[in-house]
Amino acid sequence: MRMCHQVKNRLIDPFARAIEYVRLSVTDKCDLRCLYCLPKGYKDFEEPADWLTFEEIERVIGAFAGMGVRRVRITGGEPLLRRGLPELAARLSALPGIEDLSLSTNATQLQKHAATLKEAGISRVNVSLDTLSPTRFKEICGGRLDKVIAGLMAAKDAGLHPIKINMVVMRGINDDEVDDMLAFCIEHGFTLRFIETMPVGETGRQAGNRYVALQEIRSRLAVKYELIPGIMPGGGPAQYVRVAGAGLHIGFITPMSRHFCATCNRVRLSPDGTLYLCLGQNHKFELRPLLRQGISDEELATAIRQAIALKPERHEFREKPGQVVRFMSMTGG
Ligand code: GTP
Ligand code: 5AD
Ligand code: SF4
Repeated sequence: MRMCHQVKNRLIDPFARAIEYVRLSVTDKCDLRCLYCLPKGYKDFEEPADWLTFEEIERVIGAFAGMGVRRVRITGGEPLLRRGLPELAARLSALPGIEDLSLSTNATQLQKHAATLKEAGISRVNVSLDTLSPTRFKEICGGRLDKVIAGLMAAKDAGLHPIKINMVVMRGINDDEVDDMLAFCIEHGFTLRFIETMPVGETGRQAGNRYVALQEIRSRLAVKYELIPGIMPGGGPAQYVRVAGAGLHIGFITPMSRHFCATCNRVRLSPDGTLYLCLGQNHKFELRPLLRQGISDEELATAIRQAIALKPERHEFREKPGQVVRFMSMTGG
């Protein structure tokens, strides 16, 4: 990865925000069915024929990098279900300007891929983990916890760092596990992030019944621990604190109780080459037809600028909770 890449034409959206982070969903398929994300039995996935090829993805990310994007997060669905993912990672990490290549995964398949991904240039991973109980894990996500734990340990052994644990906090489902998760993350040197449920797709809306405002968790923790404002590598919306004396960072991701749209720096590219300009809105721009019509590099850059011009100011999860019908797995959160 090369640093200090010179960029003349940065991407600035209509609200003066610089776009420097692309979240790249490489498949909408997933081997789990987390209750806040994909409905049980869901099968209506994108056709692989409509997915961008690795060449097309590399071209689009290269165009973004030429306009100041320096962070790429590979996500899904479950990105490790996309065949040949390490090859794609290697191509993306070699692009001039890309300084931070990371992965969001459910880790069920991470055990066998962690070392290869690290070699391919992925430096850090964020892993979804809502519970440490195998029975609860089955209930919440419909899979096997031991695989996820094995994946996490392999990631640690491979030197992926930092490893961030994403815990969607849900009332009456896992909100009693905050202390256990803290202990687990301290033991293994992971960063713990709490996330508020978002009404993305029907499943996300239903999980909203279990919504917990994270100030509640923060106040609860502040009684027990000294929390010092901190920072962590990354470009996302989490607000971090350091737990004094414990070597632990905790992140709070609060799209509902205190949204962070004013500092939004990212866009999402879906498996079929559609740019989604906001997680909580439907504004989108389809790149795939243009790519397959054989547009020039200049035309691609212009198309990306046209897309960025559509970026809305903020989500309206509270005002219009029914707005987003697509499932989270389409845009990778
Ligand atoms: P880094 O900070 O770079 O590590 O990444 P991240 O925290 O953005 O990535 P991750 O995939 O782990 O996302 C964590 C949570 O933040 C997920 O629930 C995402 O849906 C949420 N999130 C990330 N970006 C946005 C955003 O622009 N808007 C909203 N509302 N939520 C977001
Ligand atoms: N609300 C909040 N977070 C969600 N995620 C998936 N669906 C939702 C939702 N409805 C989280 C997953 C994963 C991250 C990328 O997005 O837990 O860790
Ligand atoms: Fe799969 Fe991630 Fe959605 Fe869970 S949150 S169903 S792991 S895509």
